[in-house]
Amino acid sequence: ASVGLSLLASQNWLVRASENDMATSSDADFQPNVEIKLTARKVDVPIFQKGRNTSCYKYVGEVIKGPADTLIDMPSYLGPTLRFRKGDKVKIYFTNDLPSEQSNIHWHGLHVPEAADGHPKDQIGHGDIYVYEFEVINRAGTYFYHSHAHGATATQVYKGLAGALIISDDDEEAVDLPRGEYDIPLLIQDRSFTKTNKLSYFGGVDGFFGNRILVNGKPNAKLSVNRGQYRFRCINGSNSRIYKLGWSNKMPLVAIGVDGGLLAQPETRPYIMLAPGERIDLWVDFSHMKPGTELLLRSLAYAGFMPHQGMQNNEHGGMGMSGKGMDIVDMPSKKPGHLMRQSAAVDILKIKVGKNSAANQLTLPNKLSEIEALGIQDADNGSTPRVIRITQAMDATMTPLFNDEPFPQDLVSVDPDEIININSAQYFSITHDHGGMGVQNMTMMSMAHPIHMHGSSFQIVKRSFKESGDHRNYATIKDGFIDAGWKDTVLVVEGEEVALLKRFDTYSGLSLYHCHNLEHEDNGMMRNLLIR
Ligand code: C2O
Ligand code: CU
Repeated sequence: ASVGLSLLASQNWLVRASENDMATSSDADFQPNVEIKLTARKVDVPIFQKGRNTSCYKYVGEVIKGPADTLIDMPSYLGPTLRFRKGDKVKIYFTNDLPSEQSNIHWHGLHVPEAADGHPKDQIGHGDIYVYEFEVINRAGTYFYHSHAHGATATQVYKGLAGALIISDDDEEAVDLPRGEYDIPLLIQDRSFTKTNKLSYFGGVDGFFGNRILVNGKPNAKLSVNRGQYRFRCINGSNSRIYKLGWSNKMPLVAIGVDGGLLAQPETRPYIMLAPGERIDLWVDFSHMKPGTELLLRSLAYAGFMPHQGMQNNEHGGMGMSGKGMDIVDMPSKKPGHLMRQSAAVDILKIKVGKNSAANQLTLPNKLSEIEALGIQDADNGSTPRVIRITQAMDATMTPLFNDEPFPQDLVSVDPDEIININSAQYFSITHDHGGMGVQNMTMMSMAHPIHMHGSSFQIVKRSFKESGDHRNYATIKDGFIDAGWKDTVLVVEGEEVALLKRFDTYSGLSLYHCHNLEHEDNGMMRNLLIR
């Protein structure tokens, strides 16, 4: 049983600030070389060519100090793409200008101090300003930033509070990779809209599946490319939808990077599973394709482990807990089509190859980066893993949980089992075993969960699938995992056990892990970790 250990008395979490008293996440001698402003506000943006603008939320940004390309504006509702360098000391003035909600920002994948991490206890009220300060200590790679509002992450991200975050460093620059216009972030999300172009949301405890796919905030996304090599930085910024990425011409996918930056060497797959919160950097070579060639980046159909949209897509548009504060709720204008099933095939991006050849033709490097491979033998808790069990509430809601318990509502309770020594390496085992219920593929019990840990990146040391599991369904997705390299989010499928090794260094304090299906997270599939 959990003995709630309240930290409220001993530490000062309070980050709400009045307008003349700005709260900050760090101390006075932090000397930033990059300073930006990000304001979360309600906006009306053109998402469709025809008809009305769509009311959304958006991070609007401005560079105060640092290179002009620190911040690149994105169309539609997306926040600007942020570009930092390893070693940068970054100061971000965040203003919550949302109508009447609390909010905050989480720098997904970055290892930052507790006060800059966007923990749900650290909410910034309407009209308030909060200053995030951190040094960029992560490797170069494709990261992500988004709202981590308590109980409202799903709805705020859905309305638009998210953006791409790209880190560069010297090691990566030494590798001959596509750059500039050949290096493109693709933030992939699903949404539903009414006939009058309003966002409609009907997420429940199993998640949300929209009937349109948007890339960088645009439906029917198209991209014209030159005949050359590209780096596509794919970010799954969807609330719940898991993509099985594939090319329409059946060419294999070549991954060069994952969540925490470049792989040691490229990995080739027939398809790649990309769950919410995960990133994959693809190397794509169009140099041998005829001008005029069209091809599609798709999500291929798959069979298993993902339920129908049964639970929340009902007549009354049930909202679950995550519907809090939603002012744009509407049922979709049409009957939800096949896309309401997340395992259905769907087109993501249409690519057209142009006449021009890239001036700089590159060859795929055999070696991309140096990665020190960790194993269970490196863990301080060597033979006894910290077990994270994926379970679900035993009531009618069937809310997915960890170890049978929801995230504490007082926000600062820490289960003593989850206290971790600073400067240790920990072996975690995530298990997803509903054991013999015989209802696979019908209810939430068979859902796959993308498990995200805040703080430093981890390594996946082992993934195993139980003998009694549904191998037929598993076969449709199992070749799509890239478990090499540094990760911060891992998809765990029913019947699997995934072993991780994660180091806890640099910062002590409260941290989190949670399911990155945002409706699961908001409904309590999240736990605190105290590092000390
Ligand atoms: Cu991208 Cu705690 O989440
Ligand atoms: Cu989940």
